Amino acid sequence: MSSTPIVLDVDTGVDDACAILFAALHPDLDLRAVTCVDGNAPLADVVRNTLTVLDACGREDVLVAAGAERPLLEERADARHVHGDDGMGDLDWPRSERRPDPRHAIELLRDVLLETAEPVTLVPLAPLTNIALLLRTYPAVARGIRRIVFMGGAAHVGNATASAEFNVFHDPEAAAITLDACADLGIETVMYGLDVFYGPRVALDVARDLVALHADGPAGLAGRLIAFQCERFGAGSATIGDAGAVCAVVDPEGLTTERLPVRVELAGTWSRGRTIVDRRDWDGNLAHDPHGQAPASLDVALEVDGARYSRLWLDTVVGAP
Ligand code: RIB
Ligand code: CA
Repeated sequence: MSSTPIVLDVDTGVDDACAILFAALHPDLDLRAVTCVDGNAPLADVVRNTLTVLDACGREDVLVAAGAERPLLEERADARHVHGDDGMGDLDWPRSERRPDPRHAIELLRDVLLETAEPVTLVPLAPLTNIALLLRTYPAVARGIRRIVFMGGAAHVGNATASAEFNVFHDPEAAAITLDACADLGIETVMYGLDVFYGPRVALDVARDLVALHADGPAGLAGRLIAFQCERFGAGSATIGDAGAVCAVVDPEGLTTERLPVRVELAGTWSRGRTIVDRRDWDGNLAHDPHGQAPASLDVALEVDGARYSRLWLDTVVGAP
């Protein structure tokens, strides 16, 4: 497989860190840049955590830039209850001293996407604030995007609320704008939502072995991230979370998707931020529906081979020199 150019947009985040490890270390991925956005933690913590993970991988070559420090309309609300006070598990891992690229994230993304010789796979793993701003400010970047594979939404139940998944709930307007822009610009989009997010898991004893065998390297960091989640929730295993979306770029056969119309609810009291995945047959007679078919149809991930992706992730983070 030739090397696939890829860019991540993150709110690092314990599972974003798992995704960055994978993207930085997998031999078939050409990680060009990682842009940061407010989400799991405040933007400054997200930038520091992102640089820290790239340092652990020896990937100081990867461009990092800071983007939006708050949602477009919604008030900020972080997820420290999940990711710890520093946003990345409160590990005593050496923090990066490096500074990010001086460009704003959407300027860096514009430059990378307009200058790339080969279209890039864009992988948002966070609230879509940067992506909405990018696509509406610089629509010409669409020519540099092979497809978008984003972690967000759900065809069924939420996590932030009964209805909504965290990334979409954090900035519902950004998610709605992003889907509308992808439809307008003809950008192929895969939705890696909660229906598959919790599938690829790593056991606590495997994580502890990684820490024991690879204390200071990326595999050791991977083990610490998994162990933190297990210990925080008193569980015997933890999801690789966002990393699964990057596994889907390398190994799309591990995912079952269906092309379905999707809208984002912006007005509902109890349903704001819900991704309304329409599984009806639009080739049938739905003329009665006053809403009509949603403009955006996405490849919605409905099933995942969790063991396949957790094996792929482990082999990649352990296989690194
Ligand atoms: O709902 C899961 C998503 O919210 C993941 O991206 C996780 O990192 C958090 O941002
Ligand atoms: Ca995330």
